[in-house]
Parts: sequence; structure tokens; C-alpha cells
Amino acid sequence: MCGIIGYLGHQLAKDILLDGLKKLEYRGYDSAGLCILNDGQFFIDKKVGPVVQLEQSVANQEIISTTGIAHTRWATHGAPSENNAHPHFDCHGQIAVVHNGIIENYQALKEVLISEGHQFQSETDSEVLAHLIEKFYTDNLETAVTKALALVEGSYGLVVLSIKENKLVAVRQSSPLIIGVGVGETFVASDIPAILNYTKQVIYLNDNDLAIIDSQGYHLQNLAGQVVDRQVEEVKLNVEQIEKKGFKHFMLKEIFEQPQTISNVLAGRVKDGQIKLSIDLDLSRLKRIIIAACGTSWHSALIGKYLLENIARIPVEVDYASEFRYRQPLVSDTDLFVAISQSGETADTLAALREAKRQGAQTIAIVNVVGSTVTREVDSGIYLHAGPEIGVASTKAFTAQVTALILLALYLRQLVGQPLDDGLLADLNQLPEIVATTLSLNNQLADLAAQFYHTDHFLYLGRGLNFPVALEGALKLKEISYIHAEGYPAAEIKHGPIALVDENMPVVFLATKNDLSDKIISNIQEIKARGGRIIAVVDQDYDHIAELADHLIRVPVVNVLLSPIVNAIPLQLLAYHIADYKGLDVDKPRNLAKSVTVE
Ligand code: AGP
Repeated sequence: MCGIIGYLGHQLAKDILLDGLKKLEYRGYDSAGLCILNDGQFFIDKKVGPVVQLEQSVANQEIISTTGIAHTRWATHGAPSENNAHPHFDCHGQIAVVHNGIIENYQALKEVLISEGHQFQSETDSEVLAHLIEKFYTDNLETAVTKALALVEGSYGLVVLSIKENKLVAVRQSSPLIIGVGVGETFVASDIPAILNYTKQVIYLNDNDLAIIDSQGYHLQNLAGQVVDRQVEEVKLNVEQIEKKGFKHFMLKEIFEQPQTISNVLAGRVKDGQIKLSIDLDLSRLKRIIIAACGTSWHSALIGKYLLENIARIPVEVDYASEFRYRQPLVSDTDLFVAISQSGETADTLAALREAKRQGAQTIAIVNVVGSTVTREVDSGIYLHAGPEIGVASTKAFTAQVTALILLALYLRQLVGQPLDDGLLADLNQLPEIVATTLSLNNQLADLAAQFYHTDHFLYLGRGLNFPVALEGALKLKEISYIHAEGYPAAEIKHGPIALVDENMPVVFLATKNDLSDKIISNIQEIKARGGRIIAVVDQDYDHIAELADHLIRVPVVNVLLSPIVNAIPLQLLAYHIADYKGLDVDKPRNLAKSVTVE
């Protein structure tokens, strides 16, 4: 999504803003721009394409100023262009705005403003904000911003700069904004990496918070003008964590972090045969669990269904978050609604959560980003503690989510006095080590990728717990290599998709041992008979399909309930290496954003 950085302090604003934009590149964008208040004038530059183009454009500009705002845009309204890039301005070029989110009533507002003589330069919804603020501006920026936003419907992380006042005004409504508190300098940004080089003291703005940043520091109020008090929190991340640690891409680094991140999820939560989760809910009347999520998080939700129904024996429904609120769901206070989201900012997941809350469900979240919006709107939650996931393709968050779902299932079982399976607990404690062993397949997967990266299509097939893993493997491949890939329940292939199979079709089978192993063999034979090229993920000690598969990927033997985590690893590596062989931008694939904060 869009990235925002604002600065007011004692350093050169240009340097801070460009550095911040680069740290926000992972969010996905198509253009970038900045506006610096330089001796009573605005210095403005915008470029379509990577931040480095903006950097080169301003390189020779002597801009001594210490106040400015900047933005990376992921297009929602209006194609990528310099005109549509932020910042946007009022008619007289005296008010600059950068915005992340969607102004839902911008058309109506724009018509009124045009009828009042305002002239627009762009196709964007965001530009409406600049003209609305101009409409109400007399001599105080925060007053004009407050009056303007009273007319606005939609979501915004917004930072405003006026040519007449050396201050920034920042407002948050459904689109994250943080304040970075420095010594004699203050930052505002849409995400932590943008400011981590300068301060670890941050404030997470809440919805309706308005921050006024000036040479004295910052002042917080809400849109009703009342002073609000927000805690300054110490960021535990360091720049080192953000960097790639010697890996070629963030995605590969994050794949190799999984032994540690799974260990982080478990830390302090499995003790003396007991599960300890800080879930403060009355679940005595619990009748059903509803899980809503998007993308990879939806895949972990599907795995969660198997785990919760198998371990906790509670009925589970799984929804695409984007569909949930539109199907007229019937939710009650006997439901537990689980929102799964790495970023905690996915608009569709937030909307589903709000609908479930409105109907009285108790709510928990399984989230990675601390302080994100989802975490502030649920009754309780499980943090993944997986650290920043910079690669757009989710890997360590996925396996952390599944691990958290196992803990949740065990916790709910424990809550009703059912005994926990000691063998499963023992395997759970071994999981980081088992995943580390699985990562040693990296070179084999790189070699396999070298044989398949020219391929145009892939099928991924699995049964039971391995079906969502097949979906996840297909998503990983298509989102970073742009190769068309589909995942199916293996038995479903006979109902149409098998028509796709010929000698050019690689078919990845998740064939680790479970109670459907015999059936998966016949599915493999069906594909083999039609010339499909079989890549099979099997247990190390499983030789019975050696003669059927063209390529065997042997993973460590593990409790079947933990197999989705182990089986996902080779699929992550296969997708990574295929994309890398294709020379693609693995961390920032085309058309994608790390967090989809628009519906
Ligand atoms: C997964 O690799 C994708 N980046 C995408 O599907 C992602 O999982 C989805 O957008 C949900 O994001 P969230 O977990 O932050 O809500």
C-alpha cells in the first residue's frame, strides 16, 4: 500500500524523506513524491517508478529545509502518473497532502468543490483533501483539517503541510500512522522501518487521532479537539532485523528465519504439558468458531479448521474476509470470531471483524504486527512475534499462523478439561529443529527450480490437511514467478482439471503420510497415466511412490497435525528459486502490496 513519511526537526528533510521512502518500498508502489517547506516556498518533485528516480531528480537541489512530507503511491484511483503521484495540492499550491487509504465520497465532494471554483490536477480521490482543507483554511492548519475531515467518509492516514505554518498535521482513520519521537525532531510514518534509523520511540496513533508536529515537538488531540494521551513505546526491532542479513532477498531470509519464528510463537506458551495463552474470554457458551482472512492467511485459516475440529472438536467455518460481510452472516455471542492477518491492516479482514463484533461475537486475532489496527479492535489475541515480514510473499508469517492455530486448538481443548496429547506437545517443542532440518533441502529445491522455471503452468494437489498447503504452494509460485498455478484437493482433479494434464504439466503432490495416503497414490497414478510430471513431497521413510514420482522431496517425519508447516517449506523454496531464476523482483512482485489496506 501507499507509504508516508513526514519530518520536522534539525536534520535535512530531503535526506530523511528519501531514506524513509526507501525503507517503505517493500509495501509495493508505482510512484513517489515529496514536498519540502523551504524558506517559505514549497520544493516539490514527483516521479513514476522507483524511489531512486526521485532521489536522482533532487540530488543536485540545495534544499536546506528541515520540514517536509513524502509518499510512495500504490494506485487505487487513477493510473500511475506524475500527476496522480502524491503530494497533492490546493488551487494555490499552498497546502500539501499525502494520503494512504480511500475517500469513499470523493466524487460527491469533488463535484461540490469544482462547483465552488476549485481546479483539480489529478484523477485521485486524495486530491479532494487538499482542496477541502483549502476551503476551510484561514490561519490554523489543524482547524482547517478537522473541519475538512468532518465531511469525509472513508479511510485515511493523512499528513498535511501548509506553506504558511512550519508544522505538520497528521490524522489517522483506519489507515496506520505512527509518530516517531526524536531529540529535537519528530517523524510521522505509515510504518516503523521508515524511521527506525532515527528513533525507536514511537506512538501508534488510534483512529480519529490528530497529531500536530512543530518545532516544540508534538501535540495529540482527537477530531473533536480534545487532548488525547498516547503511550510512547520502545520499538524492539533494530535496523539489523530489517536488513537482509546476507540473504539475496528478504523472502529467502524470512524462509530461513522460520525455526526461530516458530520458536517465538511457542515461547512461554507450552509449559509443563499446559498451553498458556493470554486469551481473556468467556468461552463457556462457545458453539462455533468463525475464521476470516485473506490470501495466505486464508490458507492458514483452512488448516486451522482441520486443527480446531480435530483437536478441540468445535465446529469451524472459514470465510474469505472479503466475502464474509456480504453473505448476510448470522453471528451471535456463542461464536468466537478469529481474524488472521500478518499485517493486521488488511481492510477486508478488518471489515469482517467489525461485522462479527457488531453481531455480538467474541473476537480474537492472530497477528504479526504489534499495535496494528486489528489488534486494537479485538477482545484478545495471539501475537506471532515473527518480526517484520518484508517480502510481499508471506512465508514465516504463514507457518507462525499455523503454529498459533495449533496452540489455540490445544488451549480450547484444555479449557474444557480434555487431556492434551503428550506426543503432539513433544513434537511441537521439536518443531523448530524439524523445520531447520527441512531447510537443508534448499539446494535440492534450487536444482529442481532450474528444471522448471521455464514452465507456464503448475498444479498443486493435496488431501486433508495438505489441501490448504497445496493452495499455499500455488499462491507462492504465482505471486512471485508470475507462472499460472492452481491448487486442488487431489481427488477433485478428476472433476475437470485433469483435462489440463499432459507431458508439459508439472504436478506437485503433497504426499506425506496421513490417513488418505493410499488414495493419494491412485491420484498420482491418474496423473502419471496422462503424462504429468510428478513432483512429490513425501516423508523421509516413505518409498512406496518412489517409482511413480519423477522428483521426490523427502521431508522429516512429523506428527500429521504439524505436517502443513513442514510441507510448506519446500514449496516456499521452490517458488523462491523459480522466481529468482527468472530474474524477477522476488521481494516486490508486480501489482502486489504487502498489506492491502483498501477493500
Ligand atoms: C501472501 O503471500 C500475500 N502477500 C497475500 O495473499 C496476503 O497473505 C494477504 O494479502 C493477507 O495479508 P494479511 O495476512 O496481512 O492480512
